[in-house]
Amino acid sequence: MNEIRSQNKTIGFVPTMGALHSGHLSLLKKSKSENDFTICSIFVNPKQFNNKEDLEKYPRNIEDDIEILKTVNCDILFCPSEEEMYPEKNDEIFDLGGLDKVMEGKYRPGHFNGVAIVVKRFFDIIMPNQAYFGEKDFQQMRIIQHIVGFNKMPIQIVPAPIERENDGLAMSSRNVRLNQEERKIAPKIYQTLLNAKEMAINCTFSEVINYVNREIASIKPFKLEYFEIVNIQNLKSVEDFSEKKNCIACIAVYLGDVRLIDNIILF
Ligand code: PAJ
Repeated sequence: MNEIRSQNKTIGFVPTMGALHSGHLSLLKKSKSENDFTICSIFVNPKQFNNKEDLEKYPRNIEDDIEILKTVNCDILFCPSEEEMYPEKNDEIFDLGGLDKVMEGKYRPGHFNGVAIVVKRFFDIIMPNQAYFGEKDFQQMRIIQHIVGFNKMPIQIVPAPIERENDGLAMSSRNVRLNQEERKIAPKIYQTLLNAKEMAINCTFSEVINYVNREIASIKPFKLEYFEIVNIQNLKSVEDFSEKKNCIACIAVYLGDVRLIDNIILF
């Protein structure tokens, strides 16, 4: 790594938890096209799981992942063990500027601190020039941008758009846990978001909120955890559409025991 850096070559880094799909690949392709070397990490980080069962059930298939990485000519795969990542107790508490108190952070306490610990550790080890994060996890991406800015780290955080299946379902490692019936219904999450975006042009804030709540409640296996419209920069709740800018709608829905998240920029 030092050799790469001493030659003034750039390193692009794509952190993942494996079970790779086209969403991950889009980040890897972007990194490949923008850097001399691309490193992908695969590490299922226990510190960011607040639910033991979710951690245990998280899909792991390293052999398949290696084959997928070959298709995009990823230069380096970094698959550390837990001992390598955390040789000493690491319970650092991060100041995430309040970005961790809403949405995912509200329902998954400690999750973003766990993400911050692991990403900071990766950044310290790899020292990439650019690191790639998907907008699928919009709040995570904003939090990483905050950490890098707050700690004045010389790393550029590059956001990448959400990759979707043909029917609109946002790609996720958790999708493989959906049964056939659930998989058929799952795209309705994105359809509802698209409708909300269209409604937002002419309807009031409450009308849009009520529509999404009603729509998701009417589709039986769905259990809505949250639907929030927030400011794209500070993730603070938006109260109305008076400004008609910088608004993103974010949703988390349970389908059986699988938790799916998605989002859409309204304006
Ligand atoms: P993981 O869920 O494996 O996701 C790795 C990266 O892929 C994240 O930046 C995520 O936003 C992106 N990604 C996932 N699905 C995507 C999609 N459909 N379209 C575009 N990008 C997508 O996020 C994590 O892992 C972890 O929290 C991690 C950052 C690796 C820290 O442990």
